[in-house]
Amino acid sequence: MQLSDQVKAFWEQEPCGAGRVKDLAEFTPEWFKRLEAQRYALEPFIHAAAQFTRHHGKTLLEIGVGAGSDHLQWARAGLRCHGVDLTEAAIEATKAHLAVYGFASNLQRANAENLPFADESFDLVYSWGVIHHAAHPEAIVREIRRVLKPGGEFIGMFYKRRSLVAFKLWLRYALGRGRPWRSYADLIWNHMESPGTKAYTICELKQMFGNFTHFSARPVLTPYDTARFPAGINQFFPDQWGWFIVINACK
Ligand SMILES: C[S@@+](CC[C@H](N)C(=O)[O-])C[C@H]1O[C@@H](n2cnc3c(N)ncnc32)[C@H](O)[C@@H]1O
Repeated sequence: MQLSDQVKAFWEQEPCGAGRVKDLAEFTPEWFKRLEAQRYALEPFIHAAAQFTRHHGKTLLEIGVGAGSDHLQWARAGLRCHGVDLTEAAIEATKAHLAVYGFASNLQRANAENLPFADESFDLVYSWGVIHHAAHPEAIVREIRRVLKPGGEFIGMFYKRRSLVAFKLWLRYALGRGRPWRSYADLIWNHMESPGTKAYTICELKQMFGNFTHFSARPVLTPYDTARFPAGINQFFPDQWGWFIVINACK
């Protein structure tokens, strides 16, 4: 099976994040409400990164909508919303999520390596935790630049290779299994969510976005980095050891 088919099969099992809400009936308003609350409790920094309301009135493409919590924030903030995802599961969940609040979006199933949109269609492209799962992330970045209008903006999040999350994978699957020589890249490819997941350094992402006029990146320490650490010691770990890199880039 091709890598993109394996990635699709993985994410078709359930829309991203849905596994965290097991005690409520799926796709009900209560279920979506809990999903949304849990997402921003875990990743409150999304609001600072996306600044949803600042982009009011813009035409948006979100790549990899998942269960649609961020897509709902874009719709609430008054953007003209378009979204793609590799899976039916995510498209159906996001449609239902927006419908709960009376919003709609142009949502379609597509591999973002080949976006079904004309050149220079969007003011803003947003993609949180998606592109590193693709078989060919560079192809998606090329497509983002193609569909952005001149001066248009990309906001996204990628996984960071040198992080506490990667170190914990190494402890568990490399050191713990007597194979300490295994690289972070190999461990993340084989043991992080869908098969073939990648993670980057800021330098590598700067190169990937080399054709953009502006690029900035900042690491973020996440609850996934410090999970199961004794309470109170999180404050001693710097963002540089974090699992997320938040990117802003302009065409
Ligand atoms: C970790 S989830 C993130 C979803 C959402 N952005 C969030 O933060 O909850 C990854 C999502 O990316 C989608 N995805 C993976 N590869 C993709 C591709 N090549 N094109 C479009 N979507 C893709 C998956 O189907 C899945 O819904």
